[in-house]
Amino acid sequence: MTDPRQSGKRAAARAAADEVRSHTKIGLGTGSTVAFALERLAERQRDEGLAFVGVPTSEATAKRATELGITLTTLEEAGKLDLTIDGADEVDPALHLVKGGGGALTREKIVAAASDRFLVIVDGTKLVPHLGATFRLPIEVLPFAWPVTARHVEELGLPNVLRTGADGEPYRTDNGNFILDATLPPVEDLAALEAGLDTIPGVVECGLFLGMADRVYVGEANGATRVIEAGAPA
Ligand code: 5RP
Repeated sequence: MTDPRQSGKRAAARAAADEVRSHTKIGLGTGSTVAFALERLAERQRDEGLAFVGVPTSEATAKRATELGITLTTLEEAGKLDLTIDGADEVDPALHLVKGGGGALTREKIVAAASDRFLVIVDGTKLVPHLGATFRLPIEVLPFAWPVTARHVEELGLPNVLRTGADGEPYRTDNGNFILDATLPPVEDLAALEAGLDTIPGVVECGLFLGMADRVYVGEANGATRVIEAGAPA
């Protein structure tokens, strides 16, 4: 039997991938939902002659896109992107996001910020009443003296744990850094929290994506997709 979450992810990913037009530069996010978008983009490239170049946000996405025959470039080369398609771990009613479950948050944020439009693809379980309701906030930190950085993050009201891999060793991002996964209580001023995190020496980036999403595609188990536009009444 098909997993309803997978069906939702696939539906959202395909709907967003169908928005891509020819002769565009597209940011390619990271994760299992994006994997469905890559497949749809490759299918359109083959069947319709869709012409685009992709900027991957992780080594994993670069590998999968290359396997599918998608032409890649770098953000340095592209400069500015028409569109980025990426997943999320949580989406709140204002379309603020938590991202970084796949550890690619820093590159994802740089790529999304370089895009004219940022399309987010999720299954319905990612919609939450407030950020932190179901997922911890990933924070990429330099390995150097990371326990000191972790203490400063905790002093900001965010208890956290170092992410480890299956081997028990610290998880390393594509940038060679560590990830702290922080418990995020309901916060009134998310922008102030993000600004506070940004001032901690050793913090590279946090997984708060505030006011960045232009559109969220929410895939349902039955294959239907609902689109939520930024700024539209809830
Ligand atoms: C990776 C991310 C992903 O977009 C997020 O974790 C969602 O992943 P998935 O599509 O596998 O549920 O932020 O850093």
